[in-house]
Amino acid sequence: MKTIKAIAIILAAVVLSAFSWKTPVYKDASQPVEKRVQDLLKRMTLQEKIMQMNQYIIGRNDNSNNRGKVVAKIPPEIGSLIYFYEDPETRNDIQKRAMEQTRLGIPVLLGFDVIHGYRTVFPVPLAQAASFNPGMTSKLNAIAASEAYSAGIDWTFAPMIDVCRDPRWGRIVECYGEDPYTNSVFCEAAVKGFQGKNLSDKGTIAACLKHFVCYGASEAGRDYVYTEVSDQTMWDTYLPPYEAGVKAGAQTVMSAFNNINGIPASANRHTLTDILKNGWGFDGLVVSDWDAIAQIKLNGMAQDAAECAELSVNAGVDLDMKDNAYAEHLEQLVKEGKVSIKRIDDAVARILRVKFRLGLFDDPYRENKPQEEVFMQQESLELSEKAAAESMVLLKNDSSVLPLRKGAHIALIGPLAEAKKDLLGSWRGKGRADETETLAAAMQREFDGRVTVVEGCSFKGEDRSGFAEALQAAQSADAVVLALGEKSGWSGENASRANIELPEIQQELLREVKKAGKPMVVVLFNGRPLVLTQDEPMADAILEAWFPGTRGAAAVAGTLSGRYNPSGKLPVTFPAHQGQIPIYYNKRLPARRGNQGYYFDVTVKPLYPFGHGLSYSNFESSPVTLSADKLSKGGKITASVTVKNTSAVDGAQTVLWFISDPSCRRVTRPEKELRHFEKKIIPAGASETFTFEIQPERDLSFPDSQGTRFIEAGKFIVSACGTQAEFTLE
Ligand code: NOJ
Repeated sequence: MKTIKAIAIILAAVVLSAFSWKTPVYKDASQPVEKRVQDLLKRMTLQEKIMQMNQYIIGRNDNSNNRGKVVAKIPPEIGSLIYFYEDPETRNDIQKRAMEQTRLGIPVLLGFDVIHGYRTVFPVPLAQAASFNPGMTSKLNAIAASEAYSAGIDWTFAPMIDVCRDPRWGRIVECYGEDPYTNSVFCEAAVKGFQGKNLSDKGTIAACLKHFVCYGASEAGRDYVYTEVSDQTMWDTYLPPYEAGVKAGAQTVMSAFNNINGIPASANRHTLTDILKNGWGFDGLVVSDWDAIAQIKLNGMAQDAAECAELSVNAGVDLDMKDNAYAEHLEQLVKEGKVSIKRIDDAVARILRVKFRLGLFDDPYRENKPQEEVFMQQESLELSEKAAAESMVLLKNDSSVLPLRKGAHIALIGPLAEAKKDLLGSWRGKGRADETETLAAAMQREFDGRVTVVEGCSFKGEDRSGFAEALQAAQSADAVVLALGEKSGWSGENASRANIELPEIQQELLREVKKAGKPMVVVLFNGRPLVLTQDEPMADAILEAWFPGTRGAAAVAGTLSGRYNPSGKLPVTFPAHQGQIPIYYNKRLPARRGNQGYYFDVTVKPLYPFGHGLSYSNFESSPVTLSADKLSKGGKITASVTVKNTSAVDGAQTVLWFISDPSCRRVTRPEKELRHFEKKIIPAGASETFTFEIQPERDLSFPDSQGTRFIEAGKFIVSACGTQAEFTLE
């Protein structure tokens, strides 16, 4: 018996040593990631390293802003690809070539824009922010991740967290609004949703924080243009969501298109290396945005592609998205001593690290399951409807015209009544128009077929030939629902609008239908705040539905009928006039008050402020109370409000908590700054207490212009629900 045991031990030792002799450390899944990265790096030639630093595209790209040169013969050693296919077959072929036909067998990282859903499309990010329910965003992104994963994707270029205060900029639709805190909280939720608990688990994909940085400050809301941002504003406003995303474990960051104070974001060593990598300890990879390396030349900083590559890699961009600048020039730049091998090794280590963490070396292939088992699952569709309902903002509801009376006959009028694709919004992943229900269909179901549907007019143009039929339908109905707004392509990348009112023809339709004298409900589908000052008086109720996604129509219909009680609040200010832009709640205080410093031709107030949103319930809140009115730097106090639902309808209420520092000696602070929010369902007649535990280091400290946080003793104000309380930090 003893001899058998001894033989077994010897045999096991022989097998083990043979294995470790044959299997390089980087291929051994039991080794720590960092050891594997360093082992692989040691084995790579310069050419192999440079190939890792390139991303090409594969498949048909239907994004008109990003149509690029497709590299016909993709080398199997390529580091990354943007993957436009919708099934894992091509992926598996790509990985097979990479694993079996290359010297080292390094898997390819496959990325795609999974922004608000993959095949099941959820509300656009701006709408998700209106829900003030970040937990929901985590769930939506987990579903998006699992659909995308099944299609062969490892990595999404999301979340987009560019704080935006200019609604003319089309990309406002992709972010979480005008407030840095809201963007930070939703960023963390989004990253956790995509990446799950463990990045190497099945169904998770790597997230990408974009577009680093200050892209949301694009001058006058035009895309791809200059951004002038002071260091203080960068730290106060544009950097916090990125810092939150890095802390949440986001594996990748995308460098932006914009020129920041004279230095293009993708050539900006200060932001990419000093702040992101050295300052925050980000150890994942930085990918350039599409053409962002080549655009350094267009920005006026480099004379040719080689210089672009040099500036970009030295600034800290590790992976070249489709520009081919690294593939073509890095080797020469290294030979000339313009780019150090140390920098190349750092970039490649970052790329490999992400691949190891995703588990790609150990399991590069995907199971090819039938589409009906992985896309558009019942639970995903239900969540698509629920999320859309939670994202909607009831802007106005005079005389409680909503919810619509049971049994009412409704005229549904407008260019969005039968829209499909336009309900999905920009960056709709692989969402399909033919899998999207129209508002007309959803309302017929919700209102038992008592809906007359008339288009009335198109999105824009001069054709008024449908007006008569629209008016007639309104006259014969008990109530009118007008479905107005933007086409999905009117917001998003390269989709700025100088005039953010509804197009004139839609405003005219509204005025025409108003002649019927029936209760008028306007449902808006759009990706940005609109200036509604002309239209607002015509409508008894206005429901902001944004671009609500695959099952958004059912959510609108359900909200109109009262099956859903709206609970969204605006994550962004709706201006009353275009000339007010930029207009946002957390502005610094003016030097004069009273009637000075105002416009003399229009109001200075927005039409709807940040945080505005009505409900079918009525809520009354108590004044803010504090557990103490003094605290020390290491202490805590709790602020509370009690909100009572005084109506007969259950409803959800969100309490937004703001901090103000009315006299800050180091640097003046905005009038108020959101620091905490909480949403609760309050049953009819019941009360709920909402609390905010104020922690000085977290809630009362501010960055200086170099990003160093400081905390000053003195008076502070905490406010919520229109009331406030003062306290002293000692
Ligand atoms: C350009 C966009 O700016 C970016 O957001 C996107 O991720 C890339 N193209 C890839 O499609």
